[in-house]
Amino acid sequence: MNTFTRALTATLVSSLALTAVAAVGPPVAHAMDRSVIGGDAARTADHPWVVAVGSRQLFGSARSGQFCGAAVVSARTVVTAAHCFDRQILGADPDRVRDFRVIAGRDDLRGEQGREVAVSDIWVNPRYDRRTNAGDLAVLTLAKPLPGAAVPLAGAGDAAYGAGQSASVYGWGDTGGDGSYASSLHSSRVRVLKDRECATAYPGGAAAGRFRAETMVCAGLPEGGRDACQGDSGGPLVAGGKLIGLVSWGSGCGVAGQPGVYTRISALEKEITGRMRD
Ligand code: ARG
Repeated sequence: MNTFTRALTATLVSSLALTAVAAVGPPVAHAMDRSVIGGDAARTADHPWVVAVGSRQLFGSARSGQFCGAAVVSARTVVTAAHCFDRQILGADPDRVRDFRVIAGRDDLRGEQGREVAVSDIWVNPRYDRRTNAGDLAVLTLAKPLPGAAVPLAGAGDAAYGAGQSASVYGWGDTGGDGSYASSLHSSRVRVLKDRECATAYPGGAAAGRFRAETMVCAGLPEGGRDACQGDSGGPLVAGGKLIGLVSWGSGCGVAGQPGVYTRISALEKEITGRMRD
């Protein structure tokens, strides 16, 4: 298990504890207006491709079982992070989980707005490397379509990958870097960084992972303060109206000089389009 996985597992465990409290007591007051990290409340009506992945069997019902974010890329196809289906993350063998759902149109996970659609197939990128996080992609096929929700994919060379491009990341994850999971969707605005800057931030070694431009893109702000965090994994990073990344890893959350690292969509475009059933 690498450091990132360990950190995530710890947060998921604390999120479960939180869930248990929320189920019996009054709603826990989270840092509601600061989520993802340094973000603002967002509405799925404005960004219908932002969806959550959940399992009530594994994570309980208080937050609709949410454990990762994801993006709708065609009516029946949803992309998320491969690491969302790691045994250590789920605390269970994914093959034994019977109720993986994609939750669409639900801004607040405590409510019943929107729909929950069963997942009929999960393809975890066989080239995903859990040691380095390279190729962190899973493609989910939905049992029923979500028409009109898809976001277009950014292909190789798309201007949306240009350094300095403004991008937004969406999720229901940790808002304070301390296990304070959001109930409602948030988004944070960051900038796409040069591969060289990402490599400098993450040279590899004992403390942090290594940035690999072949399958990763990184984004953040020089001063930190805006980022994705635990629980946002698999969620979309969108620039110029196109999906450029999926939340994958980072060292801490919103730390200056430690940008968020995302799965580079253009690098895995064929893996995605080849699995679109519509
Ligand atoms: N691995 C985390 C997750 O599973 C995502 C961490 C993203 N971290 C960051 N600083 N952008 O939720």
